[in-house]
Formats: sequence, C-alpha cells, structure tokens
Amino acid sequence: MPPSKTIAACPTSEAIHESADRPAPFSGSDCQPIRFFHRGQVVEVTGEAPTRSVLEWLREDARCVGTKEGCNEGDCGACTVVVAELAAGAPGGLRLQTVNACIRFLPTLDGKALFTVEDLKALNDGRPHPVQQALVDCHGSQCGFCTPGFAMSLWSVCEAHPVGGSRPTRAQLADALSGNLCRCTGYRPILDAAERMFDLPAAPLDRGAVAEALRGLQRDRGVCHGTPAQTLHAPRTLEELDALRVRLPGARLLAGGTDIAVWVNKQHRELGELISLGEVQALRHIEAHGDGSLSVGATASLDAAWRALARMHPSLTEMGLRFASPPIRHAGSLGGNIANGSPIGDGAPVLMALRAEVELRLAGRTRRLPLDGFYTGYMRNLLQPGEFVQALWVPAAVPGLQVRAYKVSKRFDSDISTVCAGFALSLNPQDGTVSEVRLAFGGMAATVKRAATAEAALTGRPWSHAAVQDACDALKLDFVPLSDLRGSAAYRSKVAGNLLRRFWLETRLDDPLPPQSLRVRAVDADWAGGGAP
Ligand code: FAD
Ligand code: FES
Ligand code: FES
Repeated sequence: MPPSKTIAACPTSEAIHESADRPAPFSGSDCQPIRFFHRGQVVEVTGEAPTRSVLEWLREDARCVGTKEGCNEGDCGACTVVVAELAAGAPGGLRLQTVNACIRFLPTLDGKALFTVEDLKALNDGRPHPVQQALVDCHGSQCGFCTPGFAMSLWSVCEAHPVGGSRPTRAQLADALSGNLCRCTGYRPILDAAERMFDLPAAPLDRGAVAEALRGLQRDRGVCHGTPAQTLHAPRTLEELDALRVRLPGARLLAGGTDIAVWVNKQHRELGELISLGEVQALRHIEAHGDGSLSVGATASLDAAWRALARMHPSLTEMGLRFASPPIRHAGSLGGNIANGSPIGDGAPVLMALRAEVELRLAGRTRRLPLDGFYTGYMRNLLQPGEFVQALWVPAAVPGLQVRAYKVSKRFDSDISTVCAGFALSLNPQDGTVSEVRLAFGGMAATVKRAATAEAALTGRPWSHAAVQDACDALKLDFVPLSDLRGSAAYRSKVAGNLLRRFWLETRLDDPLPPQSLRVRAVDADWAGGGAP
C-alpha cells in the first residue's frame, strides 16, 4: 500500500480553502484528503484505505504510540481516544466524547478533532495533567498498559465537569470507566484518582481555539475519501445519500462502525465501497413530539438514544447503562443495532416491547413498519435493495403502561447478552386483567422476537401468579434456544421464565417488589437527563 501522505498543514486553515475550491468529486474518482485537528494543527491524510483505523494511523503513521492496542475489537479500552466535533449547545460549541480508536475508521475524523494521551501534558504547560497527577498520586497504574485509555476516559469526565461545577459520584465515575479494563490495579486506586483529579488545579481545554479550527474544516457537500481501489463516500444530505444509494445499492452502509470494524479487525472482511452515514445531520436527530411519541434518527448515538428512551421510561436506565460501554455508545447508533439485527442485540427486544416502528427510506420515499415483523431470519430483514433505516419511532407511553428491560450476561458491564428481555404490560383499569402484554426476547432464537404463545396465555386473564406460571410454560413453545459459550439452551429457557416471573413480582397489583430490591447494582437515576458522565 503506498505510504499515506500525511501533511501537517498550518494551524489555521487557509491551506484548506484552496482545496475547497475544487468541486467535491463525489464520484469516487478523485478522493479528498481527510482533514482533522490533531496535536494543535490541521492534519490532512490522503491515500489511505478507508478502513484504516485511527489506532493504526496513530501508532504507525503519526508515531503517537501512547495509545495502546489490546483487544482490537472495542472491548478493553486500551485504545481510548477523545474525538471532538462542533455541536451547538455544547460547552464552547464543542462535544468531546471517548471512542475506541481500534474500531474507528480514519475517514470518520474528517472535520473533527482527535485528542490522545500525548495531548494531556500540553494542556497543562508541560506539567502532568491533573488526570495524570491523580493517577500517580493514587497509584492508579502498575503495568501501565491500560493507563492511557483510562487517562483519556478520565479526561473526558474532567472536561464534562468544569471547574466549580458538579462533581460526579463514585458510581458515576465507575460507569464512565466501564469501557476500560485493568488487569492489575483492582480499580479502587483508579476510582480514587478519578475523585482526586477534581482536587488538583484544573487545566481546561481551550475549546474556542479548537472550535475555530474545526469551523474551517466543515464541508457543505459530500466528499469521497480513500483510494481508487476502495472509496468511502461521505454524503452530507439525505438527497446526496438517496442518490448514492440508487447509484451504489451494493455499497456497505457505515454508521458508527462498532459492528463493521470488528468484522474488519477480527474476520479480515473486505468491505468494498462504503457509504458513511455519520455526516448526514438529518439522520442524527432525536425528537420528542407533541403527541408524546419519540423519533430517533438512524445515526443518533446509542448514548443519546438510550438516554432519550430512559427519559420516556425510567425503568430503561439500567439497560442504557449496560448497553456496551461509553465509548461504544458514543460511536455506535441505535439504527445500526436494529439494521444489524443480531439475534442477541439489546435494542430490538426493548423497541419491540415499546411497539416501535422502523422508518425506511429509498430514493426519497419513506415507509414505516412495525419492528415486530422487520426481521425475516438470521441477520435478514425487510430492507429493499438501496433502502436504508432513516429513523425509529416509539409511540407515546399510555397511562399505566409498565415497561421493563432485563439484560442477563456473564459480565455486568460491557458484555453481550446471553438473554435480553423487553416487556410491556397494560392492565384493564376496571378489573385488573391483562389488556395487552408484549414480551420480546433476544438470545432465544435466530432473530429477536416476541413470545406470542406466552402473551396469549396472559391476555384477558388476571395478572396473577397462576397466569404467569402458564405463560412460563408457554415460553417453551415460543422458543427452542441454542447452547453456546454464553449459556446452554436449558439455562436460557430457565432465565427467560425467571425474567417473566421477576416482571410479575415488580408489577403485580398487591405488594409489588421495588425494582431496586431485585437489582445487582444501584443505577444512577440521573443518567437519563445527563450528558456525558
Ligand atoms: P455499524 O457497525 O456502522 O453497522 C452495523 C450494520 O448495520 C452494518 O451492516 C451496516 O451496513 C448496517 N447499517 C447501519 N446503519 C444503517 C442504516 N441506517 N440503514 C441500513 N443499514 C444500516 N450490541 C448490543 O446490542 N448490546 C451490547 O451490549 C453491545 N455491546 C458491544 C460491545 C462492544 C465492545 C462492541 C464492539 C459492540 C457491541 N455491540 C452491542 C454491538 C454494536 O455496538 C451495536 O450493534 C451498535 O448499535 C451498532 O451500531 P453502529 O452504528 O456501530 O453500526
Ligand atoms: Fe481494546 Fe481498542 S484495543 S478497545
Ligand atoms: Fe496493568 Fe491496568 S495497570 S492493565
């Protein structure tokens, strides 16, 4: 592969305007440089395959070797970096979020700023940043392999809590670090450092200077990046995306890349031509509508989407916190989770319970389908060639609706579900019988699906132990689960029945058990309303 030409342009961006005169090719013939802010200046990268990861570029081209590689699949956090982008309403007009550099394709940095552990001392005039000093003071590092990743996660927390502002609780700090694994310290010293960093003199980022540099990098129309052998198209508008989808129906859609990049890293899959959805602003909106319904744009981040769902149904907070980890939730999208259609995906069971619809778009025309019927088989769905997911629609919560989501996995944090359940129940206010119940399970079949027989066993009957017992028996007719490394078929069947019993214990009319009495760990009730941890 020809060496990439990495040109470190001057800190301002006049060098950029001349290239902006060239009409955006948008044809895949002459790709544009990837332009982003890094180490105090604007960097241009050309000639790279679009699936080259940020981590590879950092370590092999930019020689920024502070960012480590551990798992290369988004699990360990050793490669945590912070990506900043212009965001109206964010402090200083800049949103900073941790991401995993190992599963982040380099072209998705276009127009953004990249911060790595090497930047921290520069923020504090060459002295250790408070994050680094606190890690030293609290002995938060032994072999040090995980430490740069932790430092970047802690820095993003530092930046999210400016001087004199609120301080995160120890539990919120633990949540913020749930995407970073350490094999040496046992975490207590790292959490001590996370608290101590707020006691040290602050060294805040000059957001204004970064935002200024980024304003010079924004594009008002789509571009291509990559090489003639492999092109990534990055449309900016739905119209450009429509045209691309018609012209290149076989091109792989890239949203947050948290599924796709693992295929590249671990299965060495060749992806061919890519269409990146990340820059289509119209796909990123989350909107609470006047009728109480919620629409979630296909590329809205998982973090923003789960917080919006948890504001609508606070009982979904734990699922939001346990869906992957903060860096994955910052990069990945709910639309990608639904489109990917993994049988152990956590988005679909919850959205099916909520009676969500998926809005599909092709050449400017849209249609909406109940999510229940969207999957046609293992990783297969009703998308037509060229069609894509535009948004997910969640209807308003009817009065008295009881909603729960349960995730059973080996690890509490950042783990794939063995069984995931999304439940919703409405009782007839007159006689307390079940007027509607929706029981959706992941991990129990080739697709996420509802338990129709169990639902029928409950509907119209009192919400009683006897009815629930019958429904648990009926589950065995709805699912014939597999055995795999996450759990045996017998275990999955047992868990599915127990989750339904738990749902009844928490929602029965007389003496319902408080959810917190059944939880493994306390859940941060403020999470839904907050921003970054
Ligand atoms: P991408 O990887 O960009 O795309 C996924 C697939 O969907 C691709 O086939 C893509 O072509 C297609 N696609 C994307 N957007 C659209 C669209 N708008 N229209 C049509 N097709 C589209 N998943 C869980 O459910 N629960 C977890 O706890 C969880 N934990 C994870 C932990 C780690 C460490 C990692 C790496 C992944 C985890 N995931 C988990 C899986 C993944 O993060 C989610 O499925 C995520 O929502 C995928 O979204 P994305 O934007 O990254 O999709
Ligand atoms: Fe493990 Fe990236 S190397 S998350
Ligand atoms: Fe060794 Fe964390 S200090 S892995």
